[in-house]
Amino acid sequence: MKMNRFKLCLTILWLVSLPVFAGITHGPYLQAVGENEATIVWTTETPCVSWVEVAPAGDESFYAVERPQFYQTRDGNRVIGKLHKITLTGLAKGTEYRYRIFSKEVLKYHGQHNVLYGNVFSSKVYNRNPLRFTTLDREKKNISFVMLNDIHGRVDDLKALCNRVRYGKTDLMIFNGDMVDHMVDETNFFAGFMDESVNMFAGEVPVFYARGNHETRGAFNMSFSDYFPSHTGKLYYSFRQGPVHFIVLDSGEDKPDSDIEYSGLAQFDAYRSEQCEWLKKDLQSESFRTALYRVVIVHIPPFGDWHGTIEVREKFLPMLNQAGITAMLCGHLHRYIYLEPDRLTYDYPILINAHNTSLEIHADADKMTVKRYDTSGKELHSYIYPKENR
Ligand SMILES: [Fe+2]
Repeated sequence: MKMNRFKLCLTILWLVSLPVFAGITHGPYLQAVGENEATIVWTTETPCVSWVEVAPAGDESFYAVERPQFYQTRDGNRVIGKLHKITLTGLAKGTEYRYRIFSKEVLKYHGQHNVLYGNVFSSKVYNRNPLRFTTLDREKKNISFVMLNDIHGRVDDLKALCNRVRYGKTDLMIFNGDMVDHMVDETNFFAGFMDESVNMFAGEVPVFYARGNHETRGAFNMSFSDYFPSHTGKLYYSFRQGPVHFIVLDSGEDKPDSDIEYSGLAQFDAYRSEQCEWLKKDLQSESFRTALYRVVIVHIPPFGDWHGTIEVREKFLPMLNQAGITAMLCGHLHRYIYLEPDRLTYDYPILINAHNTSLEIHADADKMTVKRYDTSGKELHSYIYPKENR
């Protein structure tokens, strides 16, 4: 009996001495993963200084040697805050890494550098596997990715549609807009889709986000890129994984900028024109030119007669026509529509995914296959696109 109490005391002491996960409120999740870098995002309930420790893939204990530490800095100082966004650099392409996050509470900061620290929160690697991810690699032969859209906070649908998303099988996930009704605050989008995404895959499978019109709404919309940063710092960007070049566009709002609903704040016509200037350069990029498949991700489809739709049709489509696009993937309409190539205005298919289905896409040296699934996992449609001949 005495021995048991002794063991119990030791166990309690050991547990108390360990860093705890308790102060981490959301995340961690991967953003802006590239061939040589990746960003890890998480939040804490109190202001902290945070860092990420990185280890190579393998079975060696995380505690075997001191691991490289990455901090978020601003103008030379390490950042203190509740939102932590740490970019790992100098990574090798197509390589698996393990990682662990740490946040050290800053209880008081006064005088010059008189800092009183509190608890250290961290992800656990002692008795469970550390998180891991793999950098992108344009030489990868086969890739697989999943796209969702218009979840509008329906967590049960998100769970059902992400059932097959897992590390090692899914290279990346694409959220194609309207994942919430509007951006109220941090809790709103974490509760609406991101906490469950972290729970299922987002700590290990990179998420790429095309903003929808609903994410442009609400006082918190200005913070969107703080939580979902891209490697360009913009919400329109491109990236390459294996044989696919991805172009992510931000279609903005759906009504005219002057609509009373936007309270005089919208300026999306100019924003879409700005994207055209960037797109012109991206279509000339080496990544675009050498890809076997070119996929355009944009929330609002060029189908219909609302202003946002007309803008997408009149500004983006002429640039993409005759450019060698494999497919355009959209959402927004909450129903599935497949538009065959129209040689006059677009020479590639346009898939408009429904709000309650996912697209699972595989690309290899010969073909790109798109399959659409419902929430029960039933396959609804399948399309095959041969590689570009050039
Ligand atoms: Fe939408």
